Amino acid sequence: MVIQIAPSILSADFARLGEEIVLMEKGGADWIHIDVMDAHFVPNLTFGPPVIKAIRPVTKVPFDVHLMMDNPMDYIDDFIDAGADSITVHAEVLSHLHRSVTYIKQKGIKAAVSLNPSTPLNILEYILEDLDMVLLMTVNPGFGGQSFIPSMIKKIRLLKKMVDERQCKTIIQVDGGISLKNIREVAEAGANCFVAGSSIFSAPDPAAMISQMREAAML
Ligand code: DX5
Ligand code: ZN
Repeated sequence: MVIQIAPSILSADFARLGEEIVLMEKGGADWIHIDVMDAHFVPNLTFGPPVIKAIRPVTKVPFDVHLMMDNPMDYIDDFIDAGADSITVHAEVLSHLHRSVTYIKQKGIKAAVSLNPSTPLNILEYILEDLDMVLLMTVNPGFGGQSFIPSMIKKIRLLKKMVDERQCKTIIQVDGGISLKNIREVAEAGANCFVAGSSIFSAPDPAAMISQMREAAML
């Protein structure tokens, strides 16, 4: 199984954001995970399209933009123009999820749907095959450094079963509380793309932590 590691710059030193991203590229990051928060859908406020545009030239690593916002489609073109290679929208805020996903894909980038911990998987029943990736939140979104919610292991297993039954290539991404300690168990449950913020950026050697996590997931 191909394992992908997506460092979340939410835990980076914002005063040195460009350098932190270059460090992630040197460490072999598959994606740069960018957490956009609007202070409505989640109780926190982070970055928007201008910041993404500013950091786009510093790396060739694709940008995985996770939109934790109430009205993502109002801003979707701005995020695409800023340089997003993949956009993740939350199912909880979209009445026309299929239309939103189709729009993103028609723009030539990858489309993913995220579910909060309490959102059931059946919302994906008729859309899973159309998605490049599903992001299962393994903490309640809004902040870095929270603890992985143990009941999400079962949810990851069930999503893996849905993906296998449909024989689709949808990536299963997990986000929140992923570290060297639990990445193996989460990979065994079926995840193959791992977002990690605090466990990478608070490591003594953040770049080396990327390959350590990848190896631990593949054991
Ligand atoms: C949380 C964000 C995450 C966050 C993960 O709402 O979506 O991407 O950065 O941080 P850690 O890995 O510290 O839990
Ligand atoms: Zn995220």
